[in-house]
Amino acid sequence: MSEMPEIRWGSGTAAYQIEGAVDEGGRVPSIWDTFADRPGAITRGDTGTVASGMYRDPAPLLDAVEWLGTDSYRLSVAWCRVIGGPDGRPNPEGIAYYRRVLQELHRRGVTPLVTLYHWDLPQWLQDRGGWASLETVSAFVDFVTVAVGELGDLVDEWITVNEPFCAAFHGHLSGEHAPGIRDEATALRAALMQLHAHGEAVRTIRRLAPGARTGLAMNLSDLEPAGDLPADLEATRRADLVENRLFLHTVLRGELPEDTDGYFGTATVAAALEGIDLAGIAEPIDFIGVNYYEHNVVRAAEPGTDPIVRGIDKLPVPQPRSGNGVAVHPAGFVRVLLRVAELAPDLPIRVTENGIGLWDYLDPSGNCNDVERVAFLDRYLAALREARSRGARVEAYYHWSLIDTFEWSYGYQLRYGLFYVDFPTRRLTPKASAARYREIIAGERAAALDREPIAAEA
Ligand code: FCB
Repeated sequence: MSEMPEIRWGSGTAAYQIEGAVDEGGRVPSIWDTFADRPGAITRGDTGTVASGMYRDPAPLLDAVEWLGTDSYRLSVAWCRVIGGPDGRPNPEGIAYYRRVLQELHRRGVTPLVTLYHWDLPQWLQDRGGWASLETVSAFVDFVTVAVGELGDLVDEWITVNEPFCAAFHGHLSGEHAPGIRDEATALRAALMQLHAHGEAVRTIRRLAPGARTGLAMNLSDLEPAGDLPADLEATRRADLVENRLFLHTVLRGELPEDTDGYFGTATVAAALEGIDLAGIAEPIDFIGVNYYEHNVVRAAEPGTDPIVRGIDKLPVPQPRSGNGVAVHPAGFVRVLLRVAELAPDLPIRVTENGIGLWDYLDPSGNCNDVERVAFLDRYLAALREARSRGARVEAYYHWSLIDTFEWSYGYQLRYGLFYVDFPTRRLTPKASAARYREIIAGERAAALDREPIAAEA
């Protein structure tokens, strides 16, 4: 096996979460605009209308990237800004905005990693069936064609889809995300349709930009059975099917896990597969993106309380945990990375998201001393090093997120940023964690330089 690559450091955001200006610059509505307007959908009725204000003025965000000193920055381009509506017409204003941001990143020596689908489906496509319809896949290919054609000179690295699990199952089964549907068969269809769109997008990018590197980002969870009762083991296997294997195995192997029919039912699976090129989902990729947040202990329960997986409970999460109750469990991070490495030993892994949601605030002197996030960073980066030392080919780490954002159903209450955003004024303040991350990156870079062989003198 070749030598372990140096790690590349980054942070990330997504368009709907930071841009605001939802009806400016020729943008058309997305399913998140519609969903956020639904009474009760989002904490306190927050919406992405203003968000962190980065469409009107991305300068503070770019300064934050530069201040941190990361090698790379992950952003998403909004389909509903790049394509002006059902006629498929490119929107020059939207394209110009992303070109400006990308040029600025390059000017600051930062490599962009660009996500094409980070959940903001144009509403006009939802009106025609959304991710249950094959039309959405052909429209996605058209969008990818425009994005690569218009931005490809500034982007060498693409992520096709972000967390198809969340978009499918939170969007179409628990109903906690847009478009807020609650139907298991539709959720499975939406999952497979996004994977189909991923395969098509990889082939499109290969054709248009043969030198580009392309992957997708999936959230993978670490699941542990509550005990060794057969029912608990079976419950954990079911949770693993829905949350992990349906995505991981299908993308790597081009076939569904063997227990898919048993769980969803043969007829439902057959209907969900209609028109989908299953083998084509496993189109070779250049890296696999892993978003790691979740560790859960699972037990069998009828009827069960989990909003997604039937017949299971997830045990209450002990401390330490995030503001919204997610376990701080770096050992799970190591296990997930090693699992991916074992399934695809030669495929480079990028941690495309990892972070912690907290109820951060500015203290009276105007600082945000997010000690939990500082400790989180130290512990998860130690876990990352451990996974690498045990053979996981992790080539990049992107902390989620660069700045506080519109955090989907949590609105603006739950903050993940390394930079605190004062939403009324849109002022950014580096949190203690930003300073810590900056220091870690600078230290790692100096150590990498020390390791470089000294060029022989002429
Ligand atoms: C992931 C999303 C990302 C962000 C983090 C906290 O599920 O991809 O946009 O909301 O969670």
